[in-house]
Amino acid sequence: MPDFNREIKPAGDNHNAFGRAYLFTNENVGGYINQLDMHGGHILSVAAGGDHAFESLLNGAKVVDLFDINYAQKVIVELKSHMIKSLPYEDFMDFFFERKHFMDRKIIEPIYNDFSRELALYIDWYYCMGNCAPRHMFVYGTNPTWAGYDINKISYIASPEKYKTLAKRLPNKINFIHTGIEDLAGKNNQKYDFIFMSNIFDYILCDIPDNDLALVQMYNNVIKPLAENNLSNENGQIMFHYMWNGHGISRPDLMFEWKNFAKKFNRIKKDAGQKMKSICVPSPILKSSKQDIILCMTQNQKIR
Ligand SMILES: C[S@@+](CC[C@H](N)C(=O)[O-])C[C@H]1O[C@@H](n2cnc3c(N)ncnc32)[C@H](O)[C@@H]1O
Repeated sequence: MPDFNREIKPAGDNHNAFGRAYLFTNENVGGYINQLDMHGGHILSVAAGGDHAFESLLNGAKVVDLFDINYAQKVIVELKSHMIKSLPYEDFMDFFFERKHFMDRKIIEPIYNDFSRELALYIDWYYCMGNCAPRHMFVYGTNPTWAGYDINKISYIASPEKYKTLAKRLPNKINFIHTGIEDLAGKNNQKYDFIFMSNIFDYILCDIPDNDLALVQMYNNVIKPLAENNLSNENGQIMFHYMWNGHGISRPDLMFEWKNFAKKFNRIKKDAGQKMKSICVPSPILKSSKQDIILCMTQNQKIR
């Protein structure tokens, strides 16, 4: 398999309208999604490589809508969805993880005619670029302390059975909203049970070095408008920051300020039904870590 973790550069601040694309998640998405009751739920998630959506569908979600600042992620999710729905597990694995078959045109030839025009163009562009295409078009880390992807933690890759289940659950088309997270609220009238933001917080509000102030701004500018417009008023939950080993990439000391911020917030917002909490992911991505942590806000969560 190509070693993306060493051969392809990390995204850095390179998140933009047609930047290099993530093919797979570098979070243990299955490790926290399985702690949530998603049955029949409506989900809004960052698109990235589609894995938050795929794991949500495997965990019982009914509808998943996606957003991303990078339009290329829409195309990647479409490519992976077509493959999962129509090709055997072995072909999918060869296409992404076998060096000599990586992005092998022959594997996708049988489904090429089903591709949207934008996906067909993207794929053709990849083949026109020759050897430098993966480096220019895809993201993965060069730094061993940076979380790369762990395919054993992506359930439809780790298990051929789950791949088959996902093929049955995937809709023909996943709704995609092309936007930055700051402008996401109110883009449609849907109310979602869960909203996933991955670690976008690492890449926004970077002009505010103070962690407490950045969390306040994150709430005021991103979480609050989403909670008002698009989060279910009963039991809604926004998972707004994934931290490897409890550290923010751009805010290494975030955990301490987060605890104080959450305490203050929970006192003030008690009557409004909003609560900050964190969820532990017991099986972390980095081998040196104890646990990964997700920061979230719940809205009128029922006590079970
Ligand atoms: C933050 S990145 C990191 C990878 C992620 N941890 C995963 O597991 O896939 C995930 C996605 O967020 C998107 N993104 C980054 N900044 C964004 C923003 N301000 N608004 C919307 N999407 C953003 C990127 O384009 C990328 O597809």
